Amino acid sequence: MTEQTDRADDWRFKLFDSLSFPTRILKPDGTIIAVNNVFLERSGDQEAEVIGSTCRVNNLKHFPNQSFPCTNGEDCPLCRTVIRKMSQSVLLHTTGDDDEPHWEERVFSPILGGDGGVEYVIESIRDVTNVKRIEKLYIDMRELIDNVVQSSVSGIIAANRKGDIILANEAAEELFGYTAEEIRRVNIEDFYPPGVARDIMKMLRDEKLGRKGKLPVTHLEIISKQGEKIPVEMTAAIIYENGEEVATAGIFNDLREKLAVEQKLYESRVKIGQAEKMASLGRLAAGVAHEINNPLTSILMYGSIMREKLEPGHQLAGNLDYVLEDAERCKNIVKNLLAYSRQSSSTKEVLPFNSIVTESLKLLHDQRLFRHVEVVQQLIEQEVLIRADKNQICQVVINLVMNAVDAMDERGRLTFTTCVGEDHKTARLRVTDTGPGIKPEHMSKIFDPFFTTKAPGKGTGLGLSMAYGVMEENQGRIFVEQTGPGGTTFVLELPVVTLSNEILFDSIG
Ligand SMILES: Nc1ncnc2c1ncn2[C@@H]1O[C@H](COP(=O)(O)OP(=O)(O)O)[C@@H](O)[C@H]1O
Ligand SMILES: [Mg+2]
Repeated sequence: MTEQTDRADDWRFKLFDSLSFPTRILKPDGTIIAVNNVFLERSGDQEAEVIGSTCRVNNLKHFPNQSFPCTNGEDCPLCRTVIRKMSQSVLLHTTGDDDEPHWEERVFSPILGGDGGVEYVIESIRDVTNVKRIEKLYIDMRELIDNVVQSSVSGIIAANRKGDIILANEAAEELFGYTAEEIRRVNIEDFYPPGVARDIMKMLRDEKLGRKGKLPVTHLEIISKQGEKIPVEMTAAIIYENGEEVATAGIFNDLREKLAVEQKLYESRVKIGQAEKMASLGRLAAGVAHEINNPLTSILMYGSIMREKLEPGHQLAGNLDYVLEDAERCKNIVKNLLAYSRQSSSTKEVLPFNSIVTESLKLLHDQRLFRHVEVVQQLIEQEVLIRADKNQICQVVINLVMNAVDAMDERGRLTFTTCVGEDHKTARLRVTDTGPGIKPEHMSKIFDPFFTTKAPGKGTGLGLSMAYGVMEENQGRIFVEQTGPGGTTFVLELPVVTLSNEILFDSIG
C-alpha cells in the first residue's frame, strides 16, 4: 500500500485521495503509513517526510506552541482508539493564520485485523470552525436573552403544556412571592383565581382577540404565595414549534403602586373640588348673612321695644314672643354662616389640647340633653399644646356633641379620646357616639352647608360645614373616621406646637 507505483492504480488509494477531509492512516504505535492528497495540500508537508514518521512528531511541527493531547494514556485519542477498539474524537482549539480562533475535530476510527486487534487507525481531520462559531453565537445570544429576561422589571413566566413553570425571572419570583426553587414546583393555574388560567388560554386561542396565540394587554388579579390578590397588567403568548403548542409565556406588571397613585390623585381632586365648593358657598353665605343681618337687627330691636311697651297679658304678646324667638334663631344661623365663611374674627392662642374637651363640656354642663348620655373621657396624660382659636374650636366640639346626642336620640354613650399621631406632629380628638351611623349616600354631603337630615326647624345643616371651615382656618382638619350601625367617630386633627416652633411663629408675627 505504501509503494508509490501502486498508488495511482490502487482503487483503495483512489478512494482515500477522493476524501474531502485531510486523512492519515496510522499504526497503533503512531507511525504514519499513509496520508491523502488533501492532507498534503492543507499541511504543506511532503509525503516522503511524513510517511514513516509518527503522528506526534508531525503534530508538534504543526502545533509547536499548542498543547496537543499526545501524552500516552487516556489523553491520547489514538491510544484510546487502540485500547477501546472504538472510534474516538478530539476537538482542537487553535489559532489560525488570521489570528482568529479555529476548531478542528479529529476522528480516529479503528481498522481491526484478523485477530480482532486494532491493525490500523484512520484519522480524519475536519475543520469545524464555522459550526463552532455558530454554536458560540447561539450561546452568546442565549446568554443575552437570559440576561434581558432576568433583568426585566416585569415578571416573566413560561410554562409547558402541563402548566409546569419552566422559566421565571427574579421579578416574577418577587411578584408571586416564591423563591426560585419553589416557583418551579407551582402549576400555572395556582397563580390565578379558579378558572382564570383556562379563560386566558381560551382568549389566547381566540383569533378574534388580536392575533392568534397572542393576548393583548389585559388587567386581572393574580394570587401570590401568601394568598394576596395583586392587580396586574399582563400580556401572554403561546409558543409554537412546527405549528404545535409547546408552551405559554406571560409578562406581568404590578399595578399596586400605579393604582395607589391614581387613588391619591382622585382623592386630592375630590378634596380640591370640595374646597372650591366650600369657598364659593362661603362667599355666598357671607353675602346673604350680611344682607340679612341689618333687617334682622331691626326686627329684634323694634320687636323688643314693642314687647316691652305691651301691657302685661296683651293678646298679641304671645305672637310677638314667637316673632322674637324665630328672629333670635335666624340671628344664630347668621352667626354660624359668618363663622362658616370665616368672616368672624379669630384670635389664636397656644393652649393644652385636652382643654378644648374640658372647656366644651363645661359649656354644655347643665344641658338637660345629657340626662341619659354617659360621657366618657379618655384624655392623653402627656401635655400636648396646640395653637388655635379656643372659642371657635369649642364651638366645633359642641356641634359634634349636639349631632351625636341628636343621632343617639339623647340616649347612649359619648366618648372623647385625645392622642398624638405617630410622628408627634398632630394631635387628635375622637368624638365617638353609639348612634345609628351616617348613611353611605349622605357621607359625601354632610360637610355641605344646609345639608341636614333633621326635621324642619330642628337642623340648619350648618354645624359641620362651619366645623370644616373652622378646622381649615386653624390648619387642622375634620373627618369621619368610621361610621356604621354601632356608632360614628368624628376626628378633629390639629398641628402640635413645640416650644421652638412657637417662638418661630411669634417672631414671624
Ligand atoms: N354623629 C352623627 N351621627 C349620625 N349622623 C350625623 C352625625 N353628625 C352629623 N350627622 C349627619 O350630618 C348632617 C349634617 O350635620 P350638621 O351640619 O351638623 O347639620 P344639622 O345638625 O343641622 O343637621 C346631619 O343632619 C346628620 O344627618
Ligand atoms: Mg348639627
